[in-house]
Amino acid sequence: MAEMRNEVTEETVGHGFLDVQRLETEEAIDPEVYRIIDQYVFKHPGGQEQLIPLLHRVQQYLGYLPFPVQEYVAGRLDLSPVEVYAVISFYHFFTTTPRGRYQLKVCMGTACFVNNAQTICDVVGDLSGLEVGGVTEDRLFSLEQVRCIGACGLAPALMVNDDAHGHLTPNAVRKLIRKLKSTARKEKNGNGGEASSEHKH
Ligand code: FES
Repeated sequence: MAEMRNEVTEETVGHGFLDVQRLETEEAIDPEVYRIIDQYVFKHPGGQEQLIPLLHRVQQYLGYLPFPVQEYVAGRLDLSPVEVYAVISFYHFFTTTPRGRYQLKVCMGTACFVNNAQTICDVVGDLSGLEVGGVTEDRLFSLEQVRCIGACGLAPALMVNDDAHGHLTPNAVRKLIRKLKSTARKEKNGNGGEASSEHKH
């Protein structure tokens, strides 16, 4: 923490950054997240030591770490918002940008690239209506290109959240996207589904 505080301080970040973040957070945040934070802090005394696991927990629930939530976490752990942001910006797995409930990460590593990864990415984009880096309006999907996901034997491959899908063809991608949409629809209608009901979007 001390090292990171040296990198991102009130001086280097300043209130301008916090104001920008505040302005960018226009959407309503599920209030349940505040209950989750309170509960986590209650169950895991340890103060600032709990910052990283708590941020993981919040991101697992919301999919990202919006400013009001960063501010709330800071208050609960007796830190400043800048200190919390310093940690978030230090670790690549934390994000302040909304992502889809289903994060589609198409591998563009060498093994996948030579096995038509670009075609797979194009098909995913067409089916979800997304360009790389985008999020659908309903927050169901977001699309990214990533480096090797460690499943070269399955090339071409993509990840849906933490699950790898390999040996992809355009047809297999169509089936996969259809299945994800169907799962989301069922969950919305209260009929359950395969995806986690905890990760909201
Ligand atoms: S290059 Fe795609 S999984 Fe390794």
